[in-house]
Amino acid sequence: MNFYEALSKYYDKFFLPNNNIIELCKSFNLRNKTVLDLGAGTGTTAILFQQEGFNVSALEIDPSMVKTFEGKIKNFDDIKLVEGNILDTPKYFPDTFGLILCIGNTLPHLNSLIDVEKVISDSFNLLSESGVLLLQIVNFDKIKNEKTFELPTLTAQDEDISFTRFYTINNSSITFNGIINVNGENLTNQVQLLLINSVDLITICKKYFSVVETYGDFKGNTYSEQSSALILKCIK
Ligand SMILES: C[S@@+](CC[C@H](N)C(=O)[O-])C[C@H]1O[C@@H](n2cnc3c(N)ncnc32)[C@H](O)[C@@H]1O
Repeated sequence: MNFYEALSKYYDKFFLPNNNIIELCKSFNLRNKTVLDLGAGTGTTAILFQQEGFNVSALEIDPSMVKTFEGKIKNFDDIKLVEGNILDTPKYFPDTFGLILCIGNTLPHLNSLIDVEKVISDSFNLLSESGVLLLQIVNFDKIKNEKTFELPTLTAQDEDISFTRFYTINNSSITFNGIINVNGENLTNQVQLLLINSVDLITICKKYFSVVETYGDFKGNTYSEQSSALILKCIK
């Protein structure tokens, strides 16, 4: 069983909707309320945008995550959800968007910076004038010199389940290890990630976008090497 197949059943118990994302995006003064969520997971953020009146499209590669997402939107049909690879985005979405999201550390799931650049340049092409690409990855600058790095353990509110998470780091590759404990029994899984430095990501974005701003979190706080996240707001 792959990582997200195992996690899809529990994902929404650990990762709750985050309104700060919506509030931050509202401050962008977007010209139109169309959003594309790349690597949308179980759709938690996509659904928040739909509830805010956005026209929402979403792309997700993992069939189990897509299935969970579909289960959540079966009673309304105005989210366009596609199962596919973010490297093929233009194939699925010929229209333009006011906002494109690639958050929740999705970009490091790609194999190389060449692939990362493809997603960024495709997004640039798919944005309408003054549209915004919002990227969020883990701030690997903070942890790249460590051998292992543990994230806070997550627990579900109403059930005896927890999610222990740690990275093992080896030069340009990083392994994300997750242990889901369900009623005392462990489900252990791993996913290989690309270690993306802030300088590399910012440099790629600046090749395409006229304005690239950084934040350390979705509350809009300033990015520093100690921030847990690197968020980039790229304006076309
Ligand atoms: C950590 S989850 C984040 C999900 C969601 N964006 C969020 O913030 O909760 C990363 C997601 O990216 C998806 N993903 C990874 N590589 C992908 C690719 N090449 N194309 C589309 N989705 C991808 C994974 O299946 C997973 O659902």
